[in-house]
Amino acid sequence: MISANRQIRRFRQRTLGLFALAIVICFTAVACSGGGAQTQAGGVQPELVADYIHTALASDRTAYTKHVVNRAKKLEGKPKDDGVLEIEATEGWEQTNGIPLPAQMFRLGSEIASEDGTFTYNLISSWYINDNQGPKSDFEQTAIEQVNETGEPYKEYQEVGGQKYFSALYPDKAVAEACVTCHNTHPIHKERYPDKVFKLDDVMGGIMINIPLEGA
Ligand code: HEC
Repeated sequence: MISANRQIRRFRQRTLGLFALAIVICFTAVACSGGGAQTQAGGVQPELVADYIHTALASDRTAYTKHVVNRAKKLEGKPKDDGVLEIEATEGWEQTNGIPLPAQMFRLGSEIASEDGTFTYNLISSWYINDNQGPKSDFEQTAIEQVNETGEPYKEYQEVGGQKYFSALYPDKAVAEACVTCHNTHPIHKERYPDKVFKLDDVMGGIMINIPLEGA
């Protein structure tokens, strides 16, 4: 027969063991999440949220380029052999009754999304044609320099006006000859960056996504 004292001791040992296990689990969970306050969207990591948003944005842009812009008969004044639609994709689309270039389409979407105010995204580049698309803060400057150098996404936390954000900058590469020729021959590009001649696969800029973190 086990004495009452021994039973109590055993119970205590088991409780302490469970308690220690619980501490280890809690610690691991916090360590793995990079800090409890930094998880978002019902526990989904902000990094994953940014990756998802980027996939959707990049896919939409490619689909627009492939299935709309490529079907236009003209691109920036030049005839397109495989064009089937009597329309021109051009920077001055509003004046010429044409359709926007992919980067402009992207910006139009980003302007609508930012009205909602939850998260923001935009294109930036060290060799920007549009003045609004140059790096605007030390953070963006560091991010674009890193992306230009490595060709890999740059992901970091930042604080702007007391609000904490998870921000990710994904490289935007010259995936087609048209990216290279259009930018290299653009009058603003030629004037501002005469020495910068893009080649296929070069990093031309990046897609920046800023996700505000709750309670941070
Ligand atoms: C027919 C011309 C043309 C083509 C093709 C083109 N771009 Fe652009 N791109 C522009 C113009 C013009 C802008 C500035 C538009 C604006 O007002 O947002 C721009 C903007 C950008 C920007 C934002 C920085 C800036 O210069 O203002 C990036 C990054 C970019 N383009 C990358 C690309 C990539 C990558 C491709 C190919 C997948 C591509 N572009 C194809 C003309 C072109």
